[in-house]
Amino acid sequence: MATYRIRHCEQLSGEVSIHAAKNAVLPLMCASLLTREPLTLEKVPALTDVRTLTDILADCGVSIHQEQDSLTLWSEEPTSPSVPDLLSRMRASVLVMGPLLARTGYARVSLPGGCAIGQRPIDLHLKGMEALGAQVQLTPGSVTLQGKLRGGNVYLDFPSVGATENILLAAALTDGVTRIDNAAKEPEIIDLCDCLSKMGARISGAGTGAIIIRGQKLLHGCTHRPIPDRIEAGTILCASAMTEGSVLLRGVRPEHMRALLFKLMETGVKVRETPAGLRLTGRGSQPIQVRTLAYPGFPTDMQAPMMALALRLRGTSIFLETIFENRFMHAREMVRLGADIRIEDRIALVSGGRMLSGTTVSSTDLRGGAALMLAGLAAEGETVLRDPHGHIARGYERLPGMLCSLGADIRQEETAPGAV
Ligand code: UD1
Repeated sequence: MATYRIRHCEQLSGEVSIHAAKNAVLPLMCASLLTREPLTLEKVPALTDVRTLTDILADCGVSIHQEQDSLTLWSEEPTSPSVPDLLSRMRASVLVMGPLLARTGYARVSLPGGCAIGQRPIDLHLKGMEALGAQVQLTPGSVTLQGKLRGGNVYLDFPSVGATENILLAAALTDGVTRIDNAAKEPEIIDLCDCLSKMGARISGAGTGAIIIRGQKLLHGCTHRPIPDRIEAGTILCASAMTEGSVLLRGVRPEHMRALLFKLMETGVKVRETPAGLRLTGRGSQPIQVRTLAYPGFPTDMQAPMMALALRLRGTSIFLETIFENRFMHAREMVRLGADIRIEDRIALVSGGRMLSGTTVSSTDLRGGAALMLAGLAAEGETVLRDPHGHIARGYERLPGMLCSLGADIRQEETAPGAV
């Protein structure tokens, strides 16, 4: 069990390099199920979610070789996963479904887990597979799909990131043309399309609401470097803006972060794109209004870190969460630090500028956990952040280490589960 001891911090300054994006790497790893040739992913971040997916893919018969931060995966004869416990640990495990179905004509997966931030059904994934010709059979706790796929037309009722990825993965190895309407436009979708194109699929419209995939009977291996993590970058920027910060982020793609950068500037900080990287200076002071939306709108994954920043802004900030119905769990813990937050359904009103005092809080989910680490930087004295489920390490490689390299004082302790 991880426990973080966080001391108050008035200034963050220095430089950090941003890791590759968790949400890009996970679907890319699943693309290895589409070919018997090696798929090499470079600069893969050291995350628990990556390790869990490695175990799931190994269970599916994928061979995996890791050399430093490069991961090479190839699958001679993939099969459906047999250990349901592994799948229940992460939502992205459902992304083995599309490629397995396209490659073998059969996929059986248990229903996925992940952060408890909402109901998170997979109806849109299944709708996509049905449109490609699969027969879907739902049983309690799992779903079985079978059939030889062909190209098809899919309209997504919501531009789901995971459903778009699952359909892309399946369609890439399916003879014929598939069209996805109201597809997700996230940068991670474009990255997956880039990789699938290198593997031989012909894809147009990536990054727009209409993606057209001309699938192939056979795909090849390739080498691919995933895009940088816009959420890790955004989390560090929020931390910097909570202090009298001057932080340079290396290796980011500012064009992937426009909505967040605009909101940060509305708080009063300065953001500059320089040849060396993205620089943020100053402390945020003005309150903000945030409405989470599908890309290119403000990312739901940044709502919690932005709320940590709002604790330091003068006046009332308003958050409207439109993507997930249960994504304010961190607010309850922030209140324990002395924050003034009122929640009404999907709206949170944060009256910032109050003095916060360190106490013991618990990590609620991945981004909420990171946000509580940031809130600890703002609180007087010491904040003890308990993370019994290891949420933060699921999606951030060395977040405390990155913040400490900028001047924060965060100590990480590992204790045995159940120890006090
Ligand atoms: C991905 C990201 C996650 C991010 C989210 C939204 C990964 C590994 N995770 O999650 O970090 O917060 O996008 O940007 O990339 N929905 C349905 N039916 C479906 C699928 C989704 O109703 O079949 C709903 C969900 O319950 C949710 C909304 O659509 O309310 C968005 O979900 P989706 O875009 O699919 O998110 P994920 O792919 O799970």
